[in-house]
Amino acid sequence: MKQNKCDTILVVDDEINTREGLKQALEEDGYNVLTAGCGNKAKQILSKKEVNLLISDLRMPDISGMELLKFTRKSAPHTAIIIITGFGTIETAVKAMKEGAYDFLTKPVDIDKLSAMVEKALMTQRLLVENIYLKEKLRNRYRFEQIIGKSRQMREIFDLIEQIAPSKTTILVEGESGTGKELFANAIHQLSSRSNKPFIKVNCAALSEGILESELFGHVKGAFTGAYENKKGRFELAHKGTLFLDEIGNIPSHIQVKLLRVLQEREFERVGGQKTICVDVRLIVATNANLAIAVKKGEFREDLYYRLNVINIKLPPLRERKEDIPLLIEYFIDKFSKENNKEVNNIAPDALDLLMKYNWPGNIRELNNCIESTVVRIKNKTICLNDLPTHIKHRSYTSECDNLTIPLGTSMQEIEKQVILKTLSVNQGNKVKTAQILNIGLKTLYRKLGSYDL
Ligand SMILES: Nc1ncnc2c1ncn2[C@@H]1O[C@H](COP(=O)(O)OP(=O)(O)OP(=O)(O)O)[C@@H](O)[C@H]1O
Ligand SMILES: [Mg+2]
Repeated sequence: MKQNKCDTILVVDDEINTREGLKQALEEDGYNVLTAGCGNKAKQILSKKEVNLLISDLRMPDISGMELLKFTRKSAPHTAIIIITGFGTIETAVKAMKEGAYDFLTKPVDIDKLSAMVEKALMTQRLLVENIYLKEKLRNRYRFEQIIGKSRQMREIFDLIEQIAPSKTTILVEGESGTGKELFANAIHQLSSRSNKPFIKVNCAALSEGILESELFGHVKGAFTGAYENKKGRFELAHKGTLFLDEIGNIPSHIQVKLLRVLQEREFERVGGQKTICVDVRLIVATNANLAIAVKKGEFREDLYYRLNVINIKLPPLRERKEDIPLLIEYFIDKFSKENNKEVNNIAPDALDLLMKYNWPGNIRELNNCIESTVVRIKNKTICLNDLPTHIKHRSYTSECDNLTIPLGTSMQEIEKQVILKTLSVNQGNKVKTAQILNIGLKTLYRKLGSYDL
């Protein structure tokens, strides 16, 4: 019975009778069948056409079936392979299966057996491809425009960004230093329809008041001493694209007024200029200060805050999404190994444990630097505890769970004792490490411990 199957099968055999016999049988089953009388012709077809299943003889005049199999595994990994073999070549057929063939058939080919095997091979292959696709999709969920994260917080932000990137809405990105504000701003631009237009960045904290105004809005010749030429500002340079204003909390009040006008009316004048300039710019602003508090304190204009805060993305500090740490470490190890031609590809469990406990005040930037410096320094393939930067090894004891609460009024002697004992306990009784962390001599530590009534 003729079935409607859209899979394409390539039959390769130098014996015309076998080739044509198989073609006919498979066509009757409803498949699209291509044929080749030698290995090289098969290679040409495989390079040009999408083939779901290759059925190939082992012995051919030009290249062997094994060679064709290896070629197919490499150049068309999604193609299933069935080997046909004459009497006495079973061993090679088994070898072929080890190399990735789905199964083999012996000559003369039993057509019913062939039918059943082809159907199974194609189904298995489809599942395999689907599996690869799903895995890839999953990996992409954790990897969003080079932004790594699988924690709930990060996935929610990825979803939000996907929704808002295409629009022109102003976005306020808030987060501690090193949480990825600039990376996200970039990703939003890349995902928007403006991606082939400029992405212009201004660090508002890095520029003095006068320079910032002229950087943002440009100036006309003679506007101030040193203004020898007319100059376009970043707003004009970002026309049709995205302008990223970093450290927005730091802009002085008269620039806040000018910015508010651009947001409301999309127009401004260059410093010292009369002509009104209109721009089409998407604004993304970032801050590591809390703008709402700055508004309450009267340091930031409330009306501007509301104009900027249309969509708010709060990037959580790394210590609040520690489940992302292993994924980030894996990503950075891979990245810096490749960049530095190293073969580092793993981290020892105790080293990972320490990095999980650490508080990461510098967030992902600090983790990035920690892994980069470690990968560059070490000779082995695995990062061990001892390879980690000294300040991290020693500061790990400051993580929240290792805090010490001492009531006011406790004597200095008692405070010292508590700190020493706690540090010793956190470091599993290691006195050398404890002395190093507390910055006292080992002898002093022994003396003090000896004086306690333990
Ligand atoms: N989720 C992430 N996945 C991969 N790399 C990240 C991620 N977040 C941040 N990074 C990397 O960490 C570093 C710091 O990120 P970024 O400069 O965007 O932080 P920031 O919030 O702008 O910091 P700052 O406030 O100090 O300017 C960059 O090298 C960035 O590529
Ligand atoms: Mg930044």
